[in-house]
Amino acid sequence: ASTLGAAAAQSGRYFGTAIAGSKLGDSNYTTIAAREFNMITAENEMKPDATEPQRGQFSFSAGDQIYNWATQRGLKVRGHTLAWHSQQPGWMQNMSGSALRQAMIDHINGVMAHYRGKLAAWDVVNEAFNEDGSRRQSNLQGTGNDWIEVAFRTARAADPSVKLCYNDYNIENWSYGKTQGVYRMIQDFKSRGVPIDCVGLQTHFTGGSSLPGNFQTTLSSFAALGVDVALTEVDVTNASTSQYAGLTQACMNVSRCIGITVWGVRDNDSWRSGESPLLFNSGGGAKAAYSSVLNVLNGP
Ligand code: G3I
Repeated sequence: ASTLGAAAAQSGRYFGTAIAGSKLGDSNYTTIAAREFNMITAENEMKPDATEPQRGQFSFSAGDQIYNWATQRGLKVRGHTLAWHSQQPGWMQNMSGSALRQAMIDHINGVMAHYRGKLAAWDVVNEAFNEDGSRRQSNLQGTGNDWIEVAFRTARAADPSVKLCYNDYNIENWSYGKTQGVYRMIQDFKSRGVPIDCVGLQTHFTGGSSLPGNFQTTLSSFAALGVDVALTEVDVTNASTSQYAGLTQACMNVSRCIGITVWGVRDNDSWRSGESPLLFNSGGGAKAAYSSVLNVLNGP
């Protein structure tokens, strides 16, 4: 196949990108995005500060713009994200305790009701762990250690059809404390019947040419707990072809690795634009890393 999305589809997977609503008027951008990708994540527009700018007053115009752009072209959409320490609306940032817990629940219910039945997955909780595998201190964590499972139970009730994911960065190296902390949480959730369907590994890779230790083992170990895994925000310093090929091959080697999303279309669209980390250069040309990924998706 000659595009990333079609090549991934040959094995039942998807290949996605983050889309910024502010760039939907750029035809160079939209032409590449609609041609190459078949899964879309809103880069910022479905986050709490965007969707509930005032308490109880939901705003879906920016999220819907991306949702409509994608679905009108036959592309699926991942929701990102419902509960996170960052990009909270101002009114939420200084909340705590039971009031914040209720605000989180109300937020999940309000946003998921709007998108009910429409999305492939939701990143229900994002980035809740420290590098050593302990829980990140945040206003949400301050509401009680059970806030994550409450978020997932709320989400399941709000939309029983959408896949519910936990999403984080620096959980790619199997030997890393954070990876083990997240693994233990997923293991605990599965053993107690807390609803969770998937783990998103953001896969923001920095430097080097080899993958973080035992990356494929991490994918297969999470999968063995009974969840799907996905690479949700891929970007790689200087778009190392060996790292891009390697992360793609690792996903291809694990049957429950259901898809790969890169975190932007062209280098100048990236939050790491100084590192040229994506598959297309700023003019929209496919880079060497693009070919390396496509070749792996197309198989031997
Ligand atoms: O839209 C405003 C604009 O009106 C304003 O003038 C400008 C001045 O600062 O800010 C603009 O908003 C920025 C927004 O991106 C849109 O460009 C925010 O400041 C900026 O903080 C925001 O950054 C986003 C970042 O998340 C915030 O945490 C990045 O675009 C986005 O790529 C990044 O994505 C995160 C994932 O959600 C979670 N994982 C890590 C990943 C990278 O940081």
